[in-house]
Amino acid sequence: MSVLVTGAASGIGAALVDRLLARGEHVLALDRVAVDEARAGLEAVSCDLADPAAISATLEQLGDRAVDAVAHVAGVPGTAPAETVLAVNVLAPTLLLGPLIDRMPAGSSVVTVASVAAGRSVATEEELDELLACRDAAGVEKWLAGHPHTGPEAYDTSKKALVRWSRLVAGRSVPRGVRVNSVSPGPVETPILADFRRSMGEDDIARSADAVGRHGRADEVAAAIDFLLGPEASWIRGVDLPVEGGLLAVRAARSTRSTS
Ligand code: NAI
Repeated sequence: MSVLVTGAASGIGAALVDRLLARGEHVLALDRVAVDEARAGLEAVSCDLADPAAISATLEQLGDRAVDAVAHVAGVPGTAPAETVLAVNVLAPTLLLGPLIDRMPAGSSVVTVASVAAGRSVATEEELDELLACRDAAGVEKWLAGHPHTGPEAYDTSKKALVRWSRLVAGRSVPRGVRVNSVSPGPVETPILADFRRSMGEDDIARSADAVGRHGRADEVAAAIDFLLGPEASWIRGVDLPVEGGLLAVRAARSTRSTS
């Protein structure tokens, strides 16, 4: 199996690459920073997902190569400017994965990585659909002018848009036999967590760990992505799988007086 992993150089993406290589899969490891290429089965693909021209070049580079599975893991936090957050977290997956999915054979699978932060965005479905219809940076800037977002708000909205996009593409891809799902992690111990502490607040992130005992590990999220990509998940389509140690359940239980 040939698997394209974006955000392959660090954190969750790197943990997924390790799993796939250990099993003997061929991995196309996409990132804007260098990926350690000295491993059997690994092929690095250098691409800055903030740049639509670089995405077009990557699609050309991939050409008609068989890609059986795609894990879109790359993402930027809300410490980046809102237009960068939306370019990488929303525009890039639509520009890269959209054409790739059209080429993928029946039986192949796609997983995107969103976030439980999606639940904090107040953007409506109509607003998300307008955002998802953007095809370039100018379109995203125009959308932002009409819907002002700070960097942290853009992060939440970007992940809500990614969940929606994944579900809609999943629905459209059913007749072609291509499965699309998303996973939504809670806080995970990776380099991006330091940015979340700054953009979401130290206390908020600490409260999440208090609620479930600790933060997640990159390999725990990678395992969920790997499962959804693989044949064991053949009848799972169009879902968003929270991978957060029960954080949402704890919050629900705390906000309800009685469980009966
Ligand atoms: P990370 O910072 O370790 O890895 C992110 C990777 O994405 C890096 O290798 C980075 O170079 C790559 N990337 C960023 N911008 C890029 C660009 N313009 N072009 C190409 N590659 C780019 O963070 P982590 O935790 O592995 O994050 C992976 C995904 O998980 C992200 O989408 C993030 O939003 C999401 N997530 C992470 C959580 C956490 O607490 N770690 C919680 C919820 C979601």
